[in-house]
Amino acid sequence: MRVLGIETSCDECAVAVYDSDRGLLAHQLYSQIMLHAAYGGVVPELAARDHVRKLLPLITAALQESQMEKDQLDAVTYTAGPGLIGALLVGAAVARSFAFARGIPALGIHHLEGHLLAPMLEPEPPKYPFIALLVSGGHTLLASVRSLGHYEILGSTLDDAAGEAFDKTAKVLGLGYPGGPALAKLAEVGHSDRYKFPKPMLDRPGLDFSFSGLKTAVVLAARNAELNDATKADIACCFQDAVVETLATKCARALNSCAATTLVVAGGVGANRRLRTRLLELGKQRGVQVCYPRPEFCTDNAAMIAYAGCQRLLLGEKDDLAIRATARWPISNLQPPSSDKFE
Ligand code: KG4
Ligand code: ZN
Repeated sequence: MRVLGIETSCDECAVAVYDSDRGLLAHQLYSQIMLHAAYGGVVPELAARDHVRKLLPLITAALQESQMEKDQLDAVTYTAGPGLIGALLVGAAVARSFAFARGIPALGIHHLEGHLLAPMLEPEPPKYPFIALLVSGGHTLLASVRSLGHYEILGSTLDDAAGEAFDKTAKVLGLGYPGGPALAKLAEVGHSDRYKFPKPMLDRPGLDFSFSGLKTAVVLAARNAELNDATKADIACCFQDAVVETLATKCARALNSCAATTLVVAGGVGANRRLRTRLLELGKQRGVQVCYPRPEFCTDNAAMIAYAGCQRLLLGEKDDLAIRATARWPISNLQPPSSDKFE
């Protein structure tokens, strides 16, 4: 089955072609970072308008890359939520119309399901069941994944998402938007023993996260010091260590609670080198296989949407002709594949 995937939930416009026999044949992405940088964050209306400009040329480019004609596609899948409603609507309307025009099915996909399944695109994909740590700009959660669509949420963030904490800390340090990757780079030259930042929620049982106390500690440290390059690097390093240690400890607890032998890490913060190294160490100590998507599939992309959609379609899922876009859509509401209506 050959599937065109479309992702427009936030500030990345992306299109991919996935073939269930041959794997990923194309992936194209246009990042709007430059467009939003001047505002220090994503401006939803500008994001939607830019998707209107970029999506059709990206579809053409993805088809060319896959050396495929439109009429060789069997289905179209698109991110139906959660995300920015205007941005989602662009992808959903284009996907649904494209499929209608060609007389093929279209299927709306949950963005976080895409992230959870992104490691399946790698040469050594994880096997079900597994524990998944999803750390993105909008979400932080631990889930027990039994099979496609069977996701039990073990813990989630009570306030900021991990990526949001990276971005806000980067802003305090004057690193621009989105600051996660810049902060991670700066952390490499910092000293990890200068600040003792709180490691959120480690003193409490359970698998929930909270990053607001850590954020306050960073703001205070930045305010009370001369913010020169060395201090910025030290704050970045100690902040990153606190986040990574917290995430690693919660992953260890989740593995204990479920006796799982595979840990999957996904979402934008999954691209963080320090986190990847730390969790690989944890896996080695416990004999647990740790799986990541390649860094470009940690952050938003359409390959994960094409893959997730293809798996659901192969299991018989169908949808009607509705254009589906849902800004708020808890992943716990997601159902396993079914041939009934989508929601
Ligand atoms: O998954 P994603 O592309 O978008 C959402 O669905 O939210 O994640 C983006 C987030 C941003 O907060 C960004 O700063 C963060 O992932 N991020 C990183 C790194 N690369 C991206 N955070 C820490 N270290 C990185 N290397
Ligand atoms: Zn995402």
